[in-house]
Amino acid sequence: MDRLAALSRQLAPRSSATDPSAASTPTPARRVRLALMGCGQISHAHLAGIQALCGEVLEVSVVIDSVAARATELAALVVGGGGRAPLVFSSLDEALAAEDVAALEDSADLPFFDAVDVMLPHQLHLPVTRLCLERQKHVLLEKPLAPTLAEAEEILQLAEAAAERDGTVLMVAENSQYWPEVQRGVELIESGAIGEVLSAKACFNVRKAAANYSQQGTNEGPGTGGFRGPDGEDAEVPWRYDLAVAGGGVVIDGGAHWLRPMRCFMGEIERVVGVTASLVPEMQGESMAQALLEFKSGRVGYFEAMAGETLHLG
Ligand SMILES: NC(=O)c1ccc[n+]([C@@H]2O[C@H](COP(=O)([O-])OP(=O)(O)OC[C@H]3O[C@@H](n4cnc5c(N)ncnc54)[C@H](O)[C@@H]3O)[C@@H](O)[C@H]2O)c1
Repeated sequence: MDRLAALSRQLAPRSSATDPSAASTPTPARRVRLALMGCGQISHAHLAGIQALCGEVLEVSVVIDSVAARATELAALVVGGGGRAPLVFSSLDEALAAEDVAALEDSADLPFFDAVDVMLPHQLHLPVTRLCLERQKHVLLEKPLAPTLAEAEEILQLAEAAAERDGTVLMVAENSQYWPEVQRGVELIESGAIGEVLSAKACFNVRKAAANYSQQGTNEGPGTGGFRGPDGEDAEVPWRYDLAVAGGGVVIDGGAHWLRPMRCFMGEIERVVGVTASLVPEMQGESMAQALLEFKSGRVGYFEAMAGETLHLG
């Protein structure tokens, strides 16, 4: 996490798409221009948060989704763009090409975007982040970093090189570390108010048909529930059920939001002994996991995650 924390510095607007020297020089005259990429279920929460909390510093200037209707629908919800509607594109390549054309025409509107909020199925995290960083676009990347450790390591290396080269920022959108109860827990532990923490337990249980997995089982509406394929086409199974796309099952998905607070409370994990199983046959990744975690401090904790149609959640 130290490497990620070091990369997650404040975003600065760039004065032009091709001026690396402007990377760390905030321009108070204008807000950071943000592209929302991937207009599925989580994008609506991102946009609501941006509009409620970040209007003074951020402007959603571009919206991208391979399914045009989804991008158009999200773009229609954007307010506060200084009277300008966001530009809508079906791919990052298309958005970058349009920006290049505008640069040739000496448009006053450059750059179209300083940063990209990447909210895509997991197998796209590496290629999209690579392209963003190459083009000096800051990246806010939805969790998980990537579906494999090798890809996660590559993202970190690319981001470290980009930060060194031109001040470009990568931040992972792991929101659970900002939950008020998690932040309060960290405060209580760090202040010593609750004494020494001997162990921690975390359980994430979700019904298979909950919104994260099926979005009421339709292909319509703002949330896709992943019933669209990674390129926007209809898919027979949600992308979260496809191991090659998601990189895992319930742990890499919602489970991640319970592991992060454990690491905030207990420190980094040294060793894991775990067992995975399947409660949801059509899900290629695990739909059940139980694990003992040994932290670097020597303390031991317990983690479990389950997804299943018949779970009774109390
Ligand atoms: N932090 C959280 O609480 C939370 C919650 C849900 C999802 N997530 C994460 O957010 C990311 C997206 O999840 P989601 O549930 O919103 O998925 P989703 O399937 O609802 O949305 C993904 C969107 O990406 C679009 N897309 C797919 N391929 C594309 C491409 N090549 N170019 C442009 N658009 C493309 C799809 O059309 C779809 O609209 C994942 O990383 C997921 O783990 C985080």
